[in-house]
Amino acid sequence: MIKKNVFLVLSIVTTLFSVQVFAQPQQAHLSWNSIKKDATSNTMTITWADNNHNKGLVKYGIDQRLTKTETATGKYSDTAKNYIYHATLKGLQPNTKYYYKCGSSEGGWSEQFSFTTAPPFGSKSKFVVGVWGDTQDNEFNEQFQKTAVIVQQLKKSPIQFMVHMGDIVDNGSVGKKWNGLFTTIQSVAAYAPFMPVTGNHDVDNDSASKGYQKPFPVFYDVLHLPANNIDYSYNYGNTHFVAISSGHAKGAEAAGNFTFAPGSPEYRWLEDDLAKARADKNITWIILYMHHPLYSFGWSHVTGWQNRITPLVDKYKVDLCLAGHRHVYERHKPIRNNEVLPQTDDHVYQKPAGTVYITNGTAGGSPQGLGGKDMPSMIFTNTVKEYNYAIMTIEGNTISYNVYNQDGKKIDYFTLTK
Ligand SMILES: [Fe+2]
Repeated sequence: MIKKNVFLVLSIVTTLFSVQVFAQPQQAHLSWNSIKKDATSNTMTITWADNNHNKGLVKYGIDQRLTKTETATGKYSDTAKNYIYHATLKGLQPNTKYYYKCGSSEGGWSEQFSFTTAPPFGSKSKFVVGVWGDTQDNEFNEQFQKTAVIVQQLKKSPIQFMVHMGDIVDNGSVGKKWNGLFTTIQSVAAYAPFMPVTGNHDVDNDSASKGYQKPFPVFYDVLHLPANNIDYSYNYGNTHFVAISSGHAKGAEAAGNFTFAPGSPEYRWLEDDLAKARADKNITWIILYMHHPLYSFGWSHVTGWQNRITPLVDKYKVDLCLAGHRHVYERHKPIRNNEVLPQTDDHVYQKPAGTVYITNGTAGGSPQGLGGKDMPSMIFTNTVKEYNYAIMTIEGNTISYNVYNQDGKKIDYFTLTK
């Protein structure tokens, strides 16, 4: 009997020990880390967390034998309290499905995931994008349970990647929030790159701090965006995506400490990026996304932000402008030079002479802030408080945009053609 109990205790201890040391890597997610024009066609960056320090590897290939290996870079994140690894696969074939797993021989492997690379740069073939924002874990979303519902909905569409309009977590300085987020979204982000902008909750909001309006160090541990910048761009097929960080917009405006002041490095980068994209014959569409909306109802409107960015939107004829921050879905008539242009069909933008502006938060933060029907530009705004996400399909000269609530019920749609 004593022998049997000793064996049982030993067995439990061994099991616990095994679980601790050989825990499966977690929080796997994809992104593009390169700024090369065709990065989405031939590269993929994989990031994951592990609770021990081994030689991190990605095993991958075009079939499930996973015959290729890439070595990861790993470091301990003091904030996330995990080892975070990332590896960039290079020289991939465009428009090709790859299988992969990440981890190490000593520490164990993730489950097997897959992704498909983008078609060649300039291709007009169809692709599908998941659009969401404001996944922040506030008091009603403490365990990201609301976000998890949206993840289940997003998975129903064949999305190739996701744009996210910021307020990724409720407090960007807290590691467990990032761990919770990436654990919650792994089932979609391990298959489709996650390309967010920062929101006011993701950055340092202490105006006395040196890092004011910048992400906390943990951001750079867990996210590997193009050139590790918070303002970045990438191409997918015939579309140029530009992501910009509006920092702490409202507070910054009050403090006279705004990003994107004309002449600032980030402003010059944005102008140069938009000018090059507009001149590139391979690019049909320019889609700009950010956290604070340029046109929106009420408290989310920040005049200083609008005054800085809209002249560039107008000058380079950005087609579609996506934002979050306000926890609603709202859509506007085309706008150029601050003038609302006529729109005959509420659901069809046919070669509009202005930019289409959309606010598409929230996928976790509590729905709020109804109103704005009386804005001259407003075509659609929620009449009920609900979470939302969108599925955007781009094919040649047409963008189809479908918006859903947390139950997968379609709440708005439109097409944009040129
Ligand atoms: Fe926000």
